Amino acid sequence: MRKRLKNKLANVISPEALNKIFSSFDIIGNIVIIKIPSSGLQDASEIAKQIMHTHKNVKSVFLQKSPVKDDFRVRELILLAGENKTITNHKENGCVFSVDVKNCYFSPRLSFERSRIANKVLPNEKVVNMFSGVGCFSILIAKKVHSAIVYSIDINPIAYNFMQDNVKLNGVYGRVFPLLGDSKKLVLTNLQGLADRVLMLLPEKALEYLPSALSALKKEGGWIHYYDFQHASKGENPLEKTQKKVADTLDNLGVFYVFSSSRIVRPIGPNWYQTVLDININESPSKFL
Ligand SMILES: C[S@@+](CC[C@H](N)C(=O)[O-])C[C@H]1O[C@@H](n2cnc3c(N)ncnc32)[C@H](O)[C@@H]1O
Repeated sequence: MRKRLKNKLANVISPEALNKIFSSFDIIGNIVIIKIPSSGLQDASEIAKQIMHTHKNVKSVFLQKSPVKDDFRVRELILLAGENKTITNHKENGCVFSVDVKNCYFSPRLSFERSRIANKVLPNEKVVNMFSGVGCFSILIAKKVHSAIVYSIDINPIAYNFMQDNVKLNGVYGRVFPLLGDSKKLVLTNLQGLADRVLMLLPEKALEYLPSALSALKKEGGWIHYYDFQHASKGENPLEKTQKKVADTLDNLGVFYVFSSSRIVRPIGPNWYQTVLDININESPSKFL
């Protein structure tokens, strides 16, 4: 499908612009979101028309006009072709996620990472997902591990409403508990000392929220999945850079830990990466409880 589209667009735009578009082309349900470099903007309508032509199930094509931004991690979209509807159902890993792509964060590029984390969860685990969006990680975990309980927090009321719908849509009611608010405050008031595992997918603020993640863990410790953005120029290793940053903080806090594994989740720009550390916390010091 993409090859056919690429061939069609090759007659319209330069190979350089074509490659840039294809590296930032997302299909979410029946919606396509593309980023087009400023040099190719005059061809935006033609590109959108060709996308609709080659992808018969696509109902709308939007141009992403800004990076994801602000607390809710949402982006500005401009309609290029099709219906002006930003709500869709996206199927992934045997789940269906209802999402408003304009008012909630959502990335299909995290599909493998969601599955990787869900595969680590053991029976009867309690999980705190501090930054859940519309609930994708939480719901997949509960679908795979029926005895797991997930406390699933987001501060965006729209994402929270979609998360509630998605919990019902995927039959995990009573096992995923959507919570609306700031995860730091919610951990402090309701979720201290109960988790076997904490997910921290908010790279911009993860370091600031690390003490809260520690305080959510059981006294005997558990797992933290820590996400980061890292620049790494030639010769630098983005994973080592994330490890160093997190190690400095954990050492200062007096925590016993092991970096069990790490990986680059995805490149997000030139020399710019999303990384994840799977951290085994051996014992959560009492000062966090
Ligand atoms: C990168 S998205 C996470 C996406 C999600 N894990 C997924 O798989 O789609 C970060 C989310 O954190 C939420 N957020 C930002 N600050 C927050 C806070 N202080 N407490 C709770 N949620 C927050 C945003 O609304 C956004 O939905």
